[in-house]
Amino acid sequence: MENEKTKNDVLKEENLEQNSSQKEKKNRSKEKKEYKEKQEVKEKNPSLKNIILSIRNASYRYSDAEEDDYALKNVSFDFESGKLYAIRGRSGTGKTTLLSLISGLEKCTEGEILFDGKSLKEMNLDQYRNSDIGIVFQSYNLLPFMTAVENIILSMDANGLKIKNKKEKAIELMEKVGLKASYANRKVLRLSGGEQQRVAIARSLSYNPKMIIADEPTGNLDKQTETEILDIFKKLAHEENKCVIIVTHSQNVCDTVDKIYDLKKVQEK
Ligand SMILES: Nc1ncnc2c1ncn2[C@@H]1O[C@H](COP(=O)(O)OP(=O)(O)OP(=O)(O)O)[C@@H](O)[C@H]1O
Ligand SMILES: [Mg+2]
Repeated sequence: MENEKTKNDVLKEENLEQNSSQKEKKNRSKEKKEYKEKQEVKEKNPSLKNIILSIRNASYRYSDAEEDDYALKNVSFDFESGKLYAIRGRSGTGKTTLLSLISGLEKCTEGEILFDGKSLKEMNLDQYRNSDIGIVFQSYNLLPFMTAVENIILSMDANGLKIKNKKEKAIELMEKVGLKASYANRKVLRLSGGEQQRVAIARSLSYNPKMIIADEPTGNLDKQTETEILDIFKKLAHEENKCVIIVTHSQNVCDTVDKIYDLKKVQEK
């Protein structure tokens, strides 16, 4: 009798298992269908795309410039999460100026910039810079007499990050950008240009921003190192869904990115 019961139980269990795996399958195909439908809706409606940053008709004139001497005029670019972008243009076309507008260091003279649908004009810009965007400067802006890890921890502190083991996290970030943990305690002064650039990228990632902007991050590097650094940016965009924007003159960078935006001199437009 007991055996009979057990057999029944086993049958019941098998049935349940079958049902639940069928349910799982159904759920998965439902999820897939919903995802596909959402993607189709997004494709048909550009305004619903994954846009994280939208520059709308932005113009900028430095305060000491003549009345009609604009560094940037009527620039409109959209940037999506999960994509890698290049901003290209000859010297003086306003690339660095545009990055200072995007990073909230300067305000548009005309037009506006939206982050996640919200105008930068209405946002707390300190908070925006401290949590939403990571900036990689061409000159790295590292403190040369401090170690790689100290530079990264300094950025975590400046951004008010409350994590327990900052050193461990900093070393994790260094490894992520291809720097051995054994470099952690070496003074930045004693690192090569490419290595310093990696520390600068690791530092910009210390508070996990949604967007990373970099001003000529590979300008001083050989092609092989440039390609390695580009691979890091590509992974951040494609695998971690970050929006990465690189200002560049490099053809190698332009060949790698998902989309290129060209800036022209204001008088050439
Ligand atoms: N602080 C400033 N005050 C006044 N004009 C400025 C200032 N900074 C830049 N400009 C002017 O704004 C224009 C755009 O400069 P910007 O530095 O943005 O160019 P860029 O594209 O980054 O050039 P590069 O490739 O040489 O770095 C230039 O004509 C420049 O002279
Ligand atoms: Mg510049």
